[in-house]
Amino acid sequence: MLPGVLVVFHRINDYIAEALEVSNLTFALKGPWFFGMNMLITSDPANIQHVYNSNFSGYDKGPEFKEIFNYLGDGIFSADSKLWEELRHSALVMISHQGFQSFSLRTFVSKIKYGLVPVLDHFGETNKVFDLQGVFQRLAFDVTLTLVTGYDSNSLSIEMPENDYAKAMDDANEVIVYRHVKPMILWKLQNWIGVGVEKKMIKANATFNRLCAKYISSKREVIQSCQHSNIGEEAHDEDILSFYMKLDTSKYELMNPKDDKFLKDTIKTFMIAGRDALATTLTWFFWLLSKNPKVVTKIRQEINTILPRSNKSLDPDMLNKMVYLHGALCESLRLYAPVPFERKSPIKKDVLPSGHKVDANWKILFAAYALGRMRAVWGEDASEFKPERWITENGGLKHEPSFKFFVFNSGPRNCLGKKLSFLQMKTIAIEIIQNYDIKVVEGHKIEQTPSMVLHMKHGLKVTVAKRCLVS
Ligand code: HEM
Repeated sequence: MLPGVLVVFHRINDYIAEALEVSNLTFALKGPWFFGMNMLITSDPANIQHVYNSNFSGYDKGPEFKEIFNYLGDGIFSADSKLWEELRHSALVMISHQGFQSFSLRTFVSKIKYGLVPVLDHFGETNKVFDLQGVFQRLAFDVTLTLVTGYDSNSLSIEMPENDYAKAMDDANEVIVYRHVKPMILWKLQNWIGVGVEKKMIKANATFNRLCAKYISSKREVIQSCQHSNIGEEAHDEDILSFYMKLDTSKYELMNPKDDKFLKDTIKTFMIAGRDALATTLTWFFWLLSKNPKVVTKIRQEINTILPRSNKSLDPDMLNKMVYLHGALCESLRLYAPVPFERKSPIKKDVLPSGHKVDANWKILFAAYALGRMRAVWGEDASEFKPERWITENGGLKHEPSFKFFVFNSGPRNCLGKKLSFLQMKTIAIEIIQNYDIKVVEGHKIEQTPSMVLHMKHGLKVTVAKRCLVS
């Protein structure tokens, strides 16, 4: 089946969704037999519940996943078993820390004020067409780099400067996709010789190494100079790098946070976690809004009711009250899952609830993008954008189990940044929807990039106009 898959590679997510719809939500994909590329593809919530929840210890990401994503080293994304438990525990402590949460909110509000608003105003005043996806990528990159290292690269500015780290992330993402559809022996050979797309990975790795080393050594200098001048720890302890540099190592058996390799792997992992999904979600969300003006009107009504214009401060309690906006974001995530595929492998032979038998080390791909579109799961109107789907009769938020709304993963390995992401997405959405009219350029082609993250291939070309608001 591999040659057939390569032909439809440019629309792989929709192709898989169509195939799953007529295959009772699961089918096996056969690759050339000697390359071990067989895999099972499923969007069946019962299978997800089984693998990610009730039989969690029977499945892991597996050694092949670690090989493909080797540039992330031993970060939480590729770790399994004991190492994963330790990384998960430390990441949970850090993300739920009050200091980190208020640092995130402050960073975000300041980036909107000094980064996003001047850029949108500039494009509005000059009446220029620009790529909204590029703007969101830069915004998410700056915010994430600040949260991870404490350093703001200011890539979101009117000049739109090139950023080496962001470019290396994009290149690495591209190479990873090819590694999924090539026999491992082939891409490893290409990497070893340094030919084909693997050349990009070699260059990206050199950039990651150089810049991560720079962030780590600057952070050490800041910590030391604060110690010498008796400035309190609070002055430099809010970002992720500082947290890990000061972690009590005695509590962890496998982790060594004093080791620079560990710190580099941590920076790379959190950069991936925080940047890509956020920018992608916002891009598809604003594209959907451009096609559904009635939804924009309803969001504006909700903003006017809950956030009077006299009150400019955004606090988490107020954001949590925005039920319709929350529903619209969930609906966008359902239709355009930012991470279209997840994968796991059984540790030993098993039978899935769908009846499919899987051998040890088989690859199972969980199609999150396809799952959001399955009529058997979401009803006959599954392909329609309906924020109301997420609202109960009493006007509250409707809860869907994570094995059905799978975009943030499910079970013990669910996304640690879900709550933070909703706060971030709502803050941006409110700022833009309240103050600007965004218009997608007529005839602009919308296509997906076949990638680990659901980017738009040609970006999202728009114009923006500042709204005249009567106070
Ligand atoms: C719209 C935004 C986001 C989406 C859709 C999303 C989605 C996901 C998904 C699908 C996974 C599972 C990945 C895998 O196991 O291969 C994941 C894991 C994770 N996410 Fe997010 N994420 C988002 C934002 C964030 C942010 C902002 C952070 C960081 C503050 C974050 C931190 C993490 C971490 C640490 C994990 C690893 C969990 C583990 O393996 O135990 N995410 N996320």
